[in-house]
Amino acid sequence: MAEQLIISGGTKQERYEALLPQVQSVVDGEADLIANMANVAAMLHETFRFWWTGFYRVQGEELVLGPFQGPLACTRIRKGRGVCGTAWQQAETQVVPDVEQFPGHIACSSASRSEIVVPIFREGTVVAVLDIDSAELCTFDDTDRRYLERLVAML
Ligand code: SME
Repeated sequence: MAEQLIISGGTKQERYEALLPQVQSVVDGEADLIANMANVAAMLHETFRFWWTGFYRVQGEELVLGPFQGPLACTRIRKGRGVCGTAWQQAETQVVPDVEQFPGHIACSSASRSEIVVPIFREGTVVAVLDIDSAELCTFDDTDRRYLERLVAML
């Protein structure tokens, strides 16, 4: 697929339903994880116009910044630190309606108000996380969690 069909209207669920098959077709044709992360970050960001959409990869005891769309971000996050480090440590998606209420949240950007972080697994181990930031409060809910967990399973 050379060009993304952007779904701008409809409910959140309808947008994810339209996006997921497009992600599948992009990922099916490419084995390189970084290339796929780059295109997935772009597709999510274009569809939902989030503030920041990207990946951190596990490298030893740290998460290291991977492909993303949006403003400059911190490059390294230790295990258990912030929302990303917590998602890694607990091997569980973190939905944060208000980042100021999350103990230890790492503010890469002061504009970020809510966040979701979804772990990515290889053989039961977290190898990376998908991190999405919104400039508005309460952007993410269980619908995002369900679809984004399905999406990262395609990688
Ligand atoms: N807020 C994240 C750090 C990464 S940036 O949002 C891109 C956290 O607390 O882990």
